[in-house]
Amino acid sequence: MVKICCIGAGYVGGPTMAVIAIKCPAIEVVVVDISKPRIDAWNSDTLPIYEPGLDEVVKACRGKNLFFSTDVEKHVAEADIIFVSVNTPTKTRGLGAGKAADLTYWESAARMIADVSKSDKIVVEKSTVPVKTAEAIEKILTHNSKGINYQILSNPEFLAEGTAIDDLFKPDRVLIGGRETPGGQKAIQALKAVYAHWVPEENIITTNLWSAELSKLAANAFLAQRISSVNAMSALCEATGADVSEVSYAIGKDSRIGPKFLNASVGFGGSCFQKDILNLVYICECNGLPEVANYWKQVIKINDYQKSRFVNRVVSSMFNTVSGKKVAVLGFAFKKDTGDTREAPAIDVCNGLLGDKAQVSIYDPQVTGEQIQRDLAMNKFDWDHPMHLQPTSPAALKQVSVVWDAYEATKDAHAVCILTEWEEFKKLDYQKIFDNMQKPAFVFDGRNVVDAAKLREIGFIVYSIGKPLDAWLKDMPAVA
Ligand code: NAD
Ligand code: UDX
Repeated sequence: MVKICCIGAGYVGGPTMAVIAIKCPAIEVVVVDISKPRIDAWNSDTLPIYEPGLDEVVKACRGKNLFFSTDVEKHVAEADIIFVSVNTPTKTRGLGAGKAADLTYWESAARMIADVSKSDKIVVEKSTVPVKTAEAIEKILTHNSKGINYQILSNPEFLAEGTAIDDLFKPDRVLIGGRETPGGQKAIQALKAVYAHWVPEENIITTNLWSAELSKLAANAFLAQRISSVNAMSALCEATGADVSEVSYAIGKDSRIGPKFLNASVGFGGSCFQKDILNLVYICECNGLPEVANYWKQVIKINDYQKSRFVNRVVSSMFNTVSGKKVAVLGFAFKKDTGDTREAPAIDVCNGLLGDKAQVSIYDPQVTGEQIQRDLAMNKFDWDHPMHLQPTSPAALKQVSVVWDAYEATKDAHAVCILTEWEEFKKLDYQKIFDNMQKPAFVFDGRNVVDAAKLREIGFIVYSIGKPLDAWLKDMPAVA
């Protein structure tokens, strides 16, 4: 029986290994982590992450061929294939702080593999890492090898949160990079055989190591670039009377452009896009390519501009002050169908509103009050976060309340900001909400999910990203 061990039981390690286990009953899969609470949660009825379809998959194979354990060293020693799926956040200190990937967790995992291994291993980079990381990992492993043969593969993960299980069941492609040596090619075939249990062979792409590592960063940069491009257009739409949804539809019909990932929004969030583009920027700078670095940096700058533009729109529409006014925030997660708040645009928007002394009442179906308080107090890097979106001070956090109902959040509010596209926000009783709000009542739709015409009939003043502006909004001072 082939044994797989995955180091890191997070948003990637957990779902990917659960899907390998359910699709490959003859393979034993153990997911290990240094965090005991996380492993306990994976072994409980309440999994540590919310992901549609995940519960069913885990419950179908947990205890059969899928296990979660904190006994990292034992399972690493026993495995034939080791996936490393630890977090690779942006460095916060030292060389490259604010841009470079922090490979501390990766390096410590690699050193532990070298320490405990007694048989040959295939080590798979599942985490997103800078190009050439495999070379560094190879050095750590081979310098401590005790005669053991290690093959390093790059197998980046392309799942998106909220659709992880569907993405894993039917990936557009699986990418495997390896050394162009006989040993490297053999390792590629071994990993390919795992995915071949459910992924058609033509969708399994094999490349050299560096192409696989770079393709992951490139894919995220291209995806984020589409959003920043359409968000940049949304500002121009508001200035000219064009409608960004019509523009997106019209350009997306061009088969060379395609219709996906053209939804204008309050800005992209998530643990990957910003981190991976910053990482790409740093790699370009280190390779003497400042022009290329600046090109990609602009994708993040437009994203920051979009968030601060949204805050400015809210404040300027409400007579240039939100001080003491209750503002309801619907949605805090970075997208629907996840409880993940990493880099959520809601963090910056709430910080901006709190900076202007609003009373903010937040409702998200999947995010806890403690998480929201932590996020709002978290330090950010100055260079990529405009001053007025800076973290909230402990004193100002008293202006925040977190409630478990959209009607409670909006009661007596002056304005509603929709920051996550949860389906339930489309179906709210907006007449009831309007009746219980201060007047004039505003809706600022950061995800273009509500029917603005219907809300206007009720009496709301509505702002939708990139759409023709209500007369009220047009008359207010220009938003920069
Ligand atoms: P995560 O923070 O949810 O999980 C990482 C886990 O690794 C944590 O539970 C942590 O305790 C554990 N860990 C860290 N060091 C360890 C060690 N030495 N030994 C054992 N466990 C250790 O992170 P994630 O969102 O799953 O992301 C993991 C990687 O996958 C990152 O490189 C990320 O960029 C990449 N990725 C993420 C996504 C996504 O949607 N979240 C998608 C594709 C790729
Ligand atoms: C992303 C990549 O899509 C995935 O392939 C990679 O493996 C990890 O990073 P994720 O961050 O989970 O996945 O979600 P994604 O669906 O890409 O959305 C990222 C952000 O962009 C969200 O805040 C989302 O709301 C926003 N977005 C997405 C838009 O604003 N407009 C769009 O058209 C699409």
